[in-house]
Amino acid sequence: MTHADQIREDRVEAALGKLDLDTKARLLAGQDMWTLPAVPEIGLGSLVMSDGPVGVRGVRWTTDDPSVALPSPTALAASWDPETARRAGRLLAQEARRKGVHVVLAPTVNLHRSPLGGRHFECYSEDPFLTGAIGTGYVLGVQEGGVGTTVKHFAGNDAETERFTVDNRIAGRALRELYLAPFAAIVKDARPWGVMTAYNRVNGTTMTEHRHLVEEVLRGEWGFDGANVSDWMAARSTAGCILGGLDIAMPGPQTVYGPALAEAVRSGEVPEAAVDAAVRNVLRLAARVGLLDGAPAAVTGLPEPVDGQALARETAARGFVLLRNEGGTLPLSSGRLPLPSGALPSAGALPPSGTLPPPSGAGPTVALLGAAARDARVLGGGSATVFPERIVSPLDGLTAALPPGSLRYAVGADPSDELTPAGQGFELRAVCRDATGTVLGEGSLPTGQVQWIGDDLPAGATYETMASIEVTGTFTPRETGEHAFGTRGLGAFTLTVDGAAVWEGVQRMGEEADPFEAFFGAPSERGRVSLEAGRPVRVSLLFHVPDLSTLPLKAVMFSLLHLGPRRDPDELIAEAVEAARAADTAVVVVATTERVESEGFDRKDLKLPGRQDDLVRAVAAVNPRTVVVVNAGSPVELPWREEVAAVLLTWFPGQEGGAALADVLLGAREPGGRLPTTWPAVLADAPVTEVVPVDGRLEYREGVFIGYRAYERAGTEPAYAFGHGLGYTDWSYESLEVTSGTGGPGGPGGPGATVRVRLANTGTRPGREVVQVYLVPAGDGETADVRDRTPGRLAGFAAVEAGPGETVETEIELPGRAFESWDEEAGRWRRTDGAHLVRAGRSYADTRLTATLHL
Ligand code: BGC
Repeated sequence: MTHADQIREDRVEAALGKLDLDTKARLLAGQDMWTLPAVPEIGLGSLVMSDGPVGVRGVRWTTDDPSVALPSPTALAASWDPETARRAGRLLAQEARRKGVHVVLAPTVNLHRSPLGGRHFECYSEDPFLTGAIGTGYVLGVQEGGVGTTVKHFAGNDAETERFTVDNRIAGRALRELYLAPFAAIVKDARPWGVMTAYNRVNGTTMTEHRHLVEEVLRGEWGFDGANVSDWMAARSTAGCILGGLDIAMPGPQTVYGPALAEAVRSGEVPEAAVDAAVRNVLRLAARVGLLDGAPAAVTGLPEPVDGQALARETAARGFVLLRNEGGTLPLSSGRLPLPSGALPSAGALPPSGTLPPPSGAGPTVALLGAAARDARVLGGGSATVFPERIVSPLDGLTAALPPGSLRYAVGADPSDELTPAGQGFELRAVCRDATGTVLGEGSLPTGQVQWIGDDLPAGATYETMASIEVTGTFTPRETGEHAFGTRGLGAFTLTVDGAAVWEGVQRMGEEADPFEAFFGAPSERGRVSLEAGRPVRVSLLFHVPDLSTLPLKAVMFSLLHLGPRRDPDELIAEAVEAARAADTAVVVVATTERVESEGFDRKDLKLPGRQDDLVRAVAAVNPRTVVVVNAGSPVELPWREEVAAVLLTWFPGQEGGAALADVLLGAREPGGRLPTTWPAVLADAPVTEVVPVDGRLEYREGVFIGYRAYERAGTEPAYAFGHGLGYTDWSYESLEVTSGTGGPGGPGGPGATVRVRLANTGTRPGREVVQVYLVPAGDGETADVRDRTPGRLAGFAAVEAGPGETVETEIELPGRAFESWDEEAGRWRRTDGAHLVRAGRSYADTRLTATLHL
């Protein structure tokens, strides 16, 4: 403990000693959606929390207060670079401070158990070691900026179906070796100031009451000394939670803590010492972020300011994974197109539709195809959503980077056949009125989505006086035809477009609905109206505010939805094919939609929605230089992958995605990413394809065999292996040396090993290579039952950079834990005896050098 730590602890004890029971109980409960109460008597400020993880939204769900949007977590993990995650963390701390936020509700370190998991995009990897390393970088970065983190969701929150109640049945070995491992690593290496406990149960006990995992494992074994926050509305029992080690019940004001907790102490159900322990953790967190007078904040000198836009652009390219590149199709710059020049236009400055001038005919040309090339999908849905100031789409990015006249755009196929919040072409505001129709207050709306939670209401409006909210304004269509309008959310609505009533009715909650229906619920179409491109019309959605007094949370959430005219899909494809035929290179952007990948539900399949597969095939048939850009946060089936020249995976690339895409396609930057998760050819090949609980239980039957371990055991070849990713140069692996007993930090796993790898850049460009080291126990040979055998695992990795012809050497420490397995019977880690094969290479399927290590 440092001197500052000691002063902080003393100050925390002194503050705790001054609090009465009611105040202590109040301090453990949210006072609203995002904050804890201030206690001025002890010099304690109000602690503010906010999501996480791609940006910091702040306490308002609106674009009025924009946030830098970095690439999504799968993209960050694809960098295989904890230092990149650390820089991202520093930017997020800077954003948090700008918005008055003290704790960022991130990182999400659940695992990619199944590609069907709805929040797959929000987690890092199928591998616990990589997840731990990236999560460690992230937490270190955020906390270096003096802002706290809550590593989430502890634990086993790997799918969304029945997420509030599902009982995940996970045997001890899988729990330790996989699902707890990233949390353990981050606690050890980054000392996070917070953890968020999940909605689900693990082996019968809900995580907000899981005394064994929280008190005995997280705090007891690993030494976690931060605060444990419930996931939002996950705390369900006063005594169960406080005795289970839950410090903070969020959100408020109605929670199982506060007065209910004080009462439980008075009635003898809960010892006051349990409350004190929780308050101590909360005060320590507050002290660390500088909210407790007299206690030194954990960080006094802030890191250098970070340029968010530049970092978002660089990080995006760092995570792009070049899956295939036949005949050096990419980069396009090699004599085929001039390198980019000039600044990017601001978002929206470009013509939105196919109104770009046709190619001039002089010089090589690019046909850019796909709806997501124009309306980019830069982040995943749900609580991870932030609202960036600008979004650079692929169309924006390439238009700015290519010489005038060399780019032609066509939609080709539009995957979003569902209505989404009114955005493009709408200018909206919300008007709040009382029962007599008098205006109480109003505010501008960036989209048709109203998400007012707690005090986040337009000035003048209150929940008590507000009888209606009207979303009203104009819509200027960019296309002539039949426009569909609809609603999302529960309650009574009146929808009017261009002076005519479209729908009047009530939407009630279905039986199985998620309480967050208004965020994640299915959109409902309410009517269609024929409109002309460029002619503005008035739109209005009137919402009658229901009685909110019985709700645990004061909030109004509903949306005005819209979908533009549907053109004949065959015609769209034909138009794209013509553009591709005339162009030197065809770039097709394919994507998932918010209805495919989001918090709140799981995926049903891995298919690209709509006619996108048909589009790619049709384009590839006429243009041998077809490059497919995959804009998805998690695996999708790419049935045409061998028919196209190149496949570049850009994930959800964040706000600067289009600029980064131009950089990478034109060779100004190398695609730096490697797959953090195995990419199946078809869903049926994935190790886990069932995420629907049976009678409330989800059995993790596969044990430790998820991801690459499972593919190997089953002998299934994936489309692309874990760790795969091409750069723009080539590498030859020259030597591998292993020294046992030296490497790693020792610690609980005992000594590990040190691996030295020498490799040469044999290509013509400077490049960066991610050297991956896998460990395969070789001791038990063929006789062992393969199901019980310890699978191969990622044990270390490092990135190297070298110019053409240069040789580099890297030293990689393998932690002692990499040589251990969890012994279920004994309930402890056990070293795997005998020989280990140490493999170094480019992916799990492409290791270039092997050495044998005898421990
Ligand atoms: C999510 C959390 C998030 C919280 C607050 C929950 O529904 O599971 O990840 O931090 O909401 O938005």
